[in-house]
Amino acid sequence: MTKILILGANGFIGRKILSDLLSVGTYNLYACSRTADIKPEKGYVFTQLDITNDEELNSYLSLITPDIIINAAAISSLQDCELNRSKSLNVNVDSVKLLIEYARQNSVFFIHLSTDFVFNGYRKKLYTENDTPDPLNFYGHTKARAEELIVNSKIKAAVLRVEVVYGEPLEGQHGNIFTLVRDKLSKGEIIKVVDDQYRTPTFVDDVCIAVRLVIKKETEGIFHIAGPEYLSISDFAFRIARYYGYNENNIQVTTTRAIGDNIERPRYSGLSIQKARKRLGYNPKTILKSLEILTSPENIRL
Ligand SMILES: NC(=O)c1ccc[n+]([C@@H]2O[C@H](COP(=O)([O-])OP(=O)(O)OC[C@H]3O[C@@H](n4cnc5c(N)ncnc54)[C@H](OP(=O)(O)O)[C@@H]3O)[C@@H](O)[C@H]2O)c1
Repeated sequence: MTKILILGANGFIGRKILSDLLSVGTYNLYACSRTADIKPEKGYVFTQLDITNDEELNSYLSLITPDIIINAAAISSLQDCELNRSKSLNVNVDSVKLLIEYARQNSVFFIHLSTDFVFNGYRKKLYTENDTPDPLNFYGHTKARAEELIVNSKIKAAVLRVEVVYGEPLEGQHGNIFTLVRDKLSKGEIIKVVDDQYRTPTFVDDVCIAVRLVIKKETEGIFHIAGPEYLSISDFAFRIARYYGYNENNIQVTTTRAIGDNIERPRYSGLSIQKARKRLGYNPKTILKSLEILTSPENIRL
């Protein structure tokens, strides 16, 4: 059985990937995160590990001997990256160096999660995998640096760039635009959303499908794994409000400048998914379909 190790398994995306691969039932699964297992289940071996501890990470890898490593571990908060630059470099870049070295020496297939924030977002066209990264903030800088290391290493690897990933997180995981809009508007609270940042929001289930597709043929390269619709954050919020029938007047449209966020973010960072469609057979769901899935009885969190 193929041994797969998922790093960042307590994170929003890492845990979804773990649960999804668990449901396939044909993999030998190992999961690892900095803190204790957020929602223990049968079917995988969980280890609490700080991936910035080189010695521990190396001996863990030698013990597990994975065939495939999926790296969903990161300092993913923009604020945390700006405030703790050396820590974010340790997690987002230095640990990737070690993983690359291990993958090279042991012929491991490496799957790494990355982001649209590697781009500056100065132009309105969707970005393709051939476009040159030029990050605006420190988070983007760390992610672009890790990508560069992976690509230059020539190891067998796939880099999956995702963006504004939405879905149902577990208790204790960070929220996303979908949960923010749903949870605030359902209580009649006001939310402020920007209309000057454009994205191709990604349903987390589609990220899991993309990971399965990449694993199937161990397809190498950079892939944009995003949704099929390109819209502003405020338009996305209105779509969610409308779907639930919530009061749209409680959505206050604003601008990035007015919100007073001092971290620079790309304005237009939609990702073209043509390459993933063609090479992987990736076919993401529309926002409407994703909302239908998220509100289907089996997916409602009680
Ligand atoms: N969510 C999005 O919208 C989005 C958009 C673009 C790109 N991405 C990328 O997708 C990936 C996953 O994102 P996410 O939203 O799932 O992030 P997340 O929820 O913040 O999860 C990150 C995970 O990394 C783990 N981690 C952090 N430092 C660690 C360390 N020193 N040792 C071991 N584990 C450590 C955390 O472990 P603990 O929880 O145990 O501390 C957590 O499980 C990241 O590479 C991110 O850049 C995400």
